This record gives sequence, structure tokens and C-alpha cells, in this order.
Amino acid sequence: MRMSVIGCGYLGAVHAAAMASLGHDVVGIDVDAQKVAVLTSGAAPFFEPQLAELLQEGLASGRLRFSTEMSEASGAAVHFIAVGTPQISGGHAADLRFVDAAVDALLPHLRRGDVVAGKSTVPVGTAERLSTAVADSGATLVWNPEFLREGWAVHDTISPDRLVVGVPSGDDGERAADLLREAYRPAVEAGTPFLVTDLATAELVKGAANAFLATKISFINAMAEIAEAAGADVALLADALGHDTRIGRRYLGSGIGFGGGCLPKDIRAFAARAEELGRAEAVGFLREVDSINLRRRDRAVQLVVDALGGLVFGRRIAVLGAAFKPFSDDIRDSPALDVAVRLRGLGADVIVTDPAALDNAMAAHPQLGYAAERDEALRDADAVVIVTEWDLYRREMTPEHAGSLVAGRVMIDGRNCLDAAAWRAAGWTYHGMGRR
Ligand code: UDX
Repeated sequence: MRMSVIGCGYLGAVHAAAMASLGHDVVGIDVDAQKVAVLTSGAAPFFEPQLAELLQEGLASGRLRFSTEMSEASGAAVHFIAVGTPQISGGHAADLRFVDAAVDALLPHLRRGDVVAGKSTVPVGTAERLSTAVADSGATLVWNPEFLREGWAVHDTISPDRLVVGVPSGDDGERAADLLREAYRPAVEAGTPFLVTDLATAELVKGAANAFLATKISFINAMAEIAEAAGADVALLADALGHDTRIGRRYLGSGIGFGGGCLPKDIRAFAARAEELGRAEAVGFLREVDSINLRRRDRAVQLVVDALGGLVFGRRIAVLGAAFKPFSDDIRDSPALDVAVRLRGLGADVIVTDPAALDNAMAAHPQLGYAAERDEALRDADAVVIVTEWDLYRREMTPEHAGSLVAGRVMIDGRNCLDAAAWRAAGWTYHGMGRR
């Protein structure tokens, strides 16, 4: 099937490469000529496992290409809209200008029977608003939200937990759903649930999923606050809760909380949209979710200050991690970097290291100290803070080895990812987040 993918960021670049790997003939279109050049050379413009291999395979097979020209979308049966929906400046709502611009630019190239499939995360009601203009060109607009996680983007695109397609009522909607089922055939045949809904429900599934996931993380982090006050251990609590199959252990990782380019902005946009709909009270809890999340960053900084006797000025602190999570070079709204910046603001001599996100961090926060290698960051540190749970810190760093490099054996485990007993046994003062 011929397809176009409009917008080649995290979502679009992966989607284009993944669709080509399923055997489709795909053109990825982006207004950024440099991004198009990088993708055309077979390189991933950002850190994402397996993406470069997939791009190279697609380009070599002739089934995948990239362009800055919207006219290249002509002739495709499905046009995926995968542009960004950032937070508007000075507010919480989603900025839809890229979605609107992409659909406007695509309209002249649509043929009767084409399907335009929105993948971007949008406020509920957006698809309905866009559908009239698309229908006027004889095409059908559907909404097919994307749930991929950075670092697992290729896996999540090729083998998603579920596929959701919101379609308009009537024959056109049914035909569009059939076309998308065909587009995702390998996943559907492998048993992936394929759910057909109305447009608004499909948009809402994405908002609701993000809200639920953010709530789950803030829930366990709220329990960490209680555990701290009560002398309990939130990591053991999470294990025990997780055995309840109605709750499940995944996404109960306590620590410095969530960040990244999606969850924080998406839950704020979701709440802003609920307010527009006159239902602010229905998602009032999301404000709490956001506050709990931000409080964990304060708490991590406080733990470091306390561990160093109340003053960090001039003390050398190794900050292990900059990316908002492992397997990513993304530093957007990274809790890891936020903690580093705050410690620097208190006058600490902060040395940040990260196996993937160092260049991005250096460009965004030139005031911080940096080390390319973990051991360089550890050398002579008065305290060590783990803020991104890369294996390099979590599994591959022993207390003995780290202890031979640092000046003071003080470990603040901002991700609750270390074996506290092993570190204590090796003479370290270990502090987790919400752990005894
Ligand atoms: C998320 C959603 O998972 C995805 O479905 C949606 O489409 C976009 O947003 P992503 O931002 O890539 O994906 O990362 P995710 O793995 O969900 O992690 C988000 C943040 O939550 C990270 O900062 C991570 O460290 C944090 N997190 C995650 C926790 O603090 N605890 C956990 O248990 C899980």
C-alpha cells in the first residue's frame, strides 16, 4: 500500500520506517530539510534503538524515502499526520498549529477515497473540526492515536498493545477502518486488538491513557512521601501492590517522577481541554498528579543537601543521568537535569554524565559541569546522585568500584534502582526515595 507520513519527528520517522518494514511503499515528508537529509542518509536524527537499521533496510529496499515536498504525498492511499503538538507558550493547552498546517498543505494533494489518519496527540474535538475540510476533498479523516514509548518506539510501532482507529459514521468510515486494518495487517494477524471507535473516543483514549499512566507514577510517589514519614519502604510496597493483578507492578517505579516530551505536557493539555468542555472538576486530580510529580524533584535535592550536612556549596556532586529516561537522548522536561540544575543553583560543583544525552544537555545547560565517562564524573565526588536508571549505573557499577573513585561514599538513588543493602554493606551511606 502507498502511504505518506507527514512530520518526521520521533513519531513520524519511526512510523514511516516501520510501515516500510511491513512491506508498504512509504514517503516521509517534513518541512525541515536537514532532518530529511539525515533520514535519507539512513541515520536516525535522534537516539532510538533499532531505528537506523530499519531506515537503512527501508531505503535500500526502495520502499522508503523522505522529502520536503508535500506534493510527494499524491497517490498515497493513507496519509498519516504525525506532527508535534507542543504546549502553547504561556499556557497549558496544546498548540495545534502544526497539525492545522499539515492538513491544510495536504488538502490539494488528496484524491477521492484517500484516508487521512491523524496520529498526533490532540485535544478531543480536533478530528471533528478537521474532518469537514478533508471530506470536502473527497477523502476521509480518521484518528489513529500512537502510544509508543521512546526507547521502545520501533517495537511499540510494529507490535503495539492495541490499535485504535476512530472513524466517522457511515460507509466512508467503514471503508477507512478496513484500509487501516489492511495497513496494520501483520500486527492484526498476530492478534493485536484492533478497536474501531468514533473520532472523539479515539482522541480520548490517548489522553486517558496518558492521564492514567501519569497518575499511576504519581500515586506510587505519593506513597513514597507517606513511606518516608512513616518509616516504610515504597519499593517493597510497590512489589506487594504489584502482585495484585488488578494493579500490576508496571509503571509503579518510584523516584524523581516522570518527565519527557509527552506525559507532562499531555496531562496539562488534557486538563485544559476538560476545562474548555466545562468539566475541569472531572480531572482536577491531574493538577495533584503534576504537583506530586514536581515535589519529588524537590525531595531529591533535599536528600542531597541533608546527606552533605545541610550545605552543598562548593561540594562536588556526580549526577548520573541527564535523559528523562534510559534508552533515550531526550532531555525535554527531564527530571534528571532539573535536579542537576537545582543543585548547581545551590552552588554545588555538579558533574553530569549520560551515555546518550550529554550533547543535548550541554547545549541546553552550559552552566553545568560535564563528564563524558561515568568514572570521570565519579572521581573525587562528595556525593553521587542517580537520576536516570541506565544499566551503566544500575547494573554495571559496583559499590566497590565506585567507592574507589569517590571522595565521599554518599549515594542518593533518585530512581530506587540499586540494591540498598549491597551499597550499605560496602560502606556507603545510601538514600533512596521513600525507602527506609
Ligand atoms: C509515554 C507513554 O508511555 C506513551 O504511551 C505515550 O505515547 C507518550 O508518553 P515516554 O514519554 O516515551 O512515553 O516514556 P515512558 O516510558 O512512559 O516514561 C515517562 C516518564 O515516566 C519517564 O520520565 C520515566 O522515567 C517515568 N517513569 C516511568 C517513572 O517515573 N516510573 C515508572 O514506573 C515508569
